[in-house]
Amino acid sequence: MAKILILLAHPFLERSKANQILLDSIPNAEDITLRDLYELYPNFTINVKLEQSFLLEHDVILFQHPLYWYSCPPLLKQWIDFVLEDGWAYGKNGNSLRGKKWVQAITTGGSREAYQKEGFHGYTIDEFLLPFKRTAELCKMDYQNPFLVQGTFHLKEEDFQRESIRYKKFILNMLEANHG
Ligand SMILES: Cc1cc2nc3c(=O)[nH]c(=O)nc-3n(C[C@H](O)[C@H](O)[C@H](O)COP(=O)(O)O)c2cc1C
Repeated sequence: MAKILILLAHPFLERSKANQILLDSIPNAEDITLRDLYELYPNFTINVKLEQSFLLEHDVILFQHPLYWYSCPPLLKQWIDFVLEDGWAYGKNGNSLRGKKWVQAITTGGSREAYQKEGFHGYTIDEFLLPFKRTAELCKMDYQNPFLVQGTFHLKEEDFQRESIRYKKFILNMLEANHG
């Protein structure tokens, strides 16, 4: 069994629909730790050593967030800037995260069709996510394809129900996957 650390980054969770539904779908399991970054760090003062200790204790690091300006909300960027230290996460002797899985669960207002070369946004979601992929690689982590919920503005109740079940299965699969 793998241990999963879920780092949630949503600045307005009380107004969220998609991420709230995903949040409610996270199975209640001993091997899953959920941390709501905006609740923990409303002033953006991140406890780096504490965050690093959580990372060390888990095999899968799952970042759950909405897509904001083709990227993550600012507190998650701050978390990345501060927690993934030189000499710890990357660089000389920076091997603390080697082999751990990096995965993102991302909700996007834009539809799947919009994220195509010929679509409204003109690039694929994988292209927009390249900085995350490269960050994971630099930390010698095992980057996984993201879990995506797209076109959130137009999803109906039954779509959200389907996505909720899909997210739960996605997490359970990662939990059961052999690590290492
Ligand atoms: C500041 C801001 C920036 C956004 N940028 C994007 C974007 O770049 N691409 C996109 O598809 N949707 C974008 N959206 C839409 C959000 O991704 C969408 O509302 C969110 O994923 C829905 O999840 P929620 O119900 O949990 O908030 C943006 C929304 C906000 C508020």
